[in-house]
Amino acid sequence: MDKKITLTIDGRELEAHPGQTILEVARGNGIFIPTLCHYSKTTNVGACRVCMVEVKGARSLVASCCMPISLGMEVKTDTKTVRDAQRLIVELLWASGDHNCLTCEQNGSCELQDLIYWLKIEKPRFDIKSPGYALEQTNAMIARDLNKCVLCGRCIRACNEIQVNEILDFSMRGSHAKVGPAFDTDYIQSECYFCGECADVCPVGAITIRQARFAGRPWEIRKVRTTCTYCGVGCQMDLNIHDGKIVKVTGNRDYGPPNEGSLCVKGRFGMDFVHSPDRLKTPLIRKNGELKEASWDEAYTYIAEKLSAIKQANGPDSIVGFSSARATNEENYLFQKFMRAVIGTNNVDHCARL
Ligand code: FES
Repeated sequence: MDKKITLTIDGRELEAHPGQTILEVARGNGIFIPTLCHYSKTTNVGACRVCMVEVKGARSLVASCCMPISLGMEVKTDTKTVRDAQRLIVELLWASGDHNCLTCEQNGSCELQDLIYWLKIEKPRFDIKSPGYALEQTNAMIARDLNKCVLCGRCIRACNEIQVNEILDFSMRGSHAKVGPAFDTDYIQSECYFCGECADVCPVGAITIRQARFAGRPWEIRKVRTTCTYCGVGCQMDLNIHDGKIVKVTGNRDYGPPNEGSLCVKGRFGMDFVHSPDRLKTPLIRKNGELKEASWDEAYTYIAEKLSAIKQANGPDSIVGFSSARATNEENYLFQKFMRAVIGTNNVDHCARL
């Protein structure tokens, strides 16, 4: 382990490891520095400059998310110069987009909204000029409103560094700069895998989950932690519930492994089966060529009779059992035990799609 070095932040003498950034050391010691483009699971690019601080001897304010600490460094995070600069940046971001909170899906969990409130900005000093991009709703899963994009680049880094899908990047220059797939196409025409990581990390309402649109405000949503049932990895996720219905699924970085908050297309978007009217709720037994609803007692009796008859007529190895990677370890253990000890065969396997 590197030897720790000493520095001062807001008059407090602190010890930290060389290579740590000012932001890391400040947050590790309970000192708040606002951020926007910073995302702890990806590299720091210093795009937004919201995290600026004063460093003694530096020619200008520095971005604390990118600046490594050094021995004897003296940092100030809450001077008038710092706050004025942060206000200017946030006002420019506000004025350069169409941040209409009334209809924005992120109202209540928008980091730009939080910053505006925290910096006590009544309204921007500049004329608000919306870029005038069309709302992208050409796929069923993700909506994009580039009028709300703050060009923080989090979606690009999440796509390239976390999911390694490498679909998103910046295009154009200056005030025309925008984020998107190659050749400025919609997601549906690109190679996008629809993992939804971009929507998860977007700090504003530029990339949102379509199925959750108008389905409930953030403060009305109850989050229930669960384990994804689509495969055996055991990804942890939050079901976002409103009015007793799952309105969307979100990752949660705080849950740690195995997925560290990331989800795949099935885990994030494949939840509509839960409320499907076609979902089977009772066992069905075929009678006279037609499937009829039956009680569980009837179904179990029917299964036991049929399996016993087949075993008696053709032996235990004429029966095969398929379990599912979507069942729990305990359920799968019981199933193989049933096949081996009760049926008397080793013909047992599983498939993640069952
Ligand atoms: Fe540091 Fe954006 S958070 S530059």
